[in-house]
This record gives sequence, C-alpha cells and structure tokens, in this order.
Amino acid sequence: MMSAATDGSIAVVGGTGHQGSALALRWAAAGIPVLLGSRDGNRARVQAQVLMARLVARSGAAPIAGMSNDEVVQQARRVVLTVPFAAHVRTLRALRDSLLPGTVLVDVTVPLAVAVGGPATQTITPWAGSAAEQAAGLVPEGISVCAAFQHLAAGALAELDTPVDCDVLVCGDMREAKGAVRLLVQAIPGARYVDAGPLERARLVEPLGALLIALNLRHKVDHCGLRITGLPG
Ligand SMILES: NC(=O)c1ccc[n+]([C@@H]2O[C@H](COP(=O)([O-])OP(=O)(O)OC[C@H]3O[C@@H](n4cnc5c(N)ncnc54)[C@H](OP(=O)(O)O)[C@@H]3O)[C@@H](O)[C@H]2O)c1
Repeated sequence: MMSAATDGSIAVVGGTGHQGSALALRWAAAGIPVLLGSRDGNRARVQAQVLMARLVARSGAAPIAGMSNDEVVQQARRVVLTVPFAAHVRTLRALRDSLLPGTVLVDVTVPLAVAVGGPATQTITPWAGSAAEQAAGLVPEGISVCAAFQHLAAGALAELDTPVDCDVLVCGDMREAKGAVRLLVQAIPGARYVDAGPLERARLVEPLGALLIALNLRHKVDHCGLRITGLPG
C-alpha cells in the first residue's frame, strides 16, 4: 500500500486553528489529501470531521485526516506551519526530529506583537530576521523552508465557493521547494503565486500580514488581501 509520505499529502501543523483549517479545506477541495495536526490528536480528529462535513457534496475532494502534529509530519513531505508566533520555537523544537528528510516546510507565521502582549497590528522582529528564517535555523539540514500564505485571510479561504482575491508572495532559497509551494498556491482558486525572492525577503513580507489586519480594522472588513501589479505573466 502506498504510504502517506509518498501519496502527496500535505501536513498542516496547528491545523485545528483558523488558518490551518481554512487552508486544509481549500487543498482538500482541490483533491489534495490533508493530514491535519494538533498538539492533541483527538482535537485534530474532531476538527477533521467538521471540515470533511463541509466537503461531503463536493466531487473530487480528497480526505482530511486528523492526528497529532508529530504524526502528521512523519507522513508528508510538504508541511505547512500554522501556529501563533508565540508557539513557533516550541512547536518546531518539538517536531524537528520527526520531519522527513527532504521535507518542504512552508511557514505561514506572521510574528505579530501579540506574542509579547502587543497589538495584532504590529509585528516584532525575531532575532533571525523573520519567523521563516527562525524556522530555518531550527530544522535539521535537508529541510527546505519557504515563507508563504501570510496575506491570505482564513475568512476568505473558508468561503469555499468564492475564489480568493490575493497574491501569495513566496520566499525561499531552493528552487525545487518553491516549485512545490507554487502547486499549493495554484490549487486555491483566485490565488496567484508571486516569487518574492530568497528566504531573507520574508523580513519584508511577513509584516504586511499585520498591515492587512490593520486595514481590516480601519475599513471594517473581514479579509482584505494583497495584489502586486505590473508583473509579467
Ligand atoms: N488567521 C488568519 O487569517 C491568518 C492569516 C495569515 C497568516 N496567519 C498566521 O497563521 C498562524 C496561525 O494563525 P491562526 O489564526 O490559525 O491561529 P490560531 O487559530 O490561534 O492557532 C492555530 C493553532 O495553533 C495551535 N496553538 C495555539 N496556541 C498554541 C501554543 N501556545 N502552542 C502550540 N500550539 C498552539 C492550536 O492548535 P492545537 O491546540 O490543536 O495544537 C491552534 O488551533 C499565525 O502565525 C498567523 O500569524 C493567520
């Protein structure tokens, strides 16, 4: 039998949350099997059932299975990290020995100042420069880290029948890893992949997530997005 590690599943760490669950819904709706992770395997199983109920009438949808964070990363070579910045270091330290060699780790984290008691409309600067660079310093050699999806609002993703209206700026140092992320972006109707350069560029990209939160509040909307104009293609 084909193992999950080779069947193209995506593992979503922190998948019971707003962003992880919403991304999981979109990918499963696009036919990509999702392994939904949590610190508590039971919580993940319950949330996976809730999400599957939303997909029941959709043809071509792939399954969402819930289990512990540790279990999901052992079964997928594409791992998406969707935990609050306050949990970033602890989560990666807990999982580093379980990541499969060759894994592409996609970090969605915006280092919001909430992590240190500040507002969600501001960010803090991690010592490494960005959350994604912090992640790269915490994972074993052979794991490629990309930063992506920080500007796609969970609320927009969760409206399955409406295409999102947002570019996805992808930062990373490995061309092959970025290719894997491109496929994940293209699986979400309305999302456009934009290569934003090396992982270091996440220093500029991540804080825009806080800007979008500020714009939501100022304009009393739920999920504004980001579009870059003037690019070829
Ligand atoms: N929400 C959005 O619209 C949005 C948009 C762009 C980017 N993001 C980024 O995506 C990430 C997740 O955001 P979210 O809104 O989904 O967050 P969330 O719902 O508050 O949390 C996501 C999951 O992280 C786990 N978690 C929470 N606190 C934790 C802790 N102290 N230690 C370990 N795990 C913890 C929880 O899973 P378990 O309890 O099941 O383990 C939770 O369900 C953040 O970094 C955020 O900046 C969010």
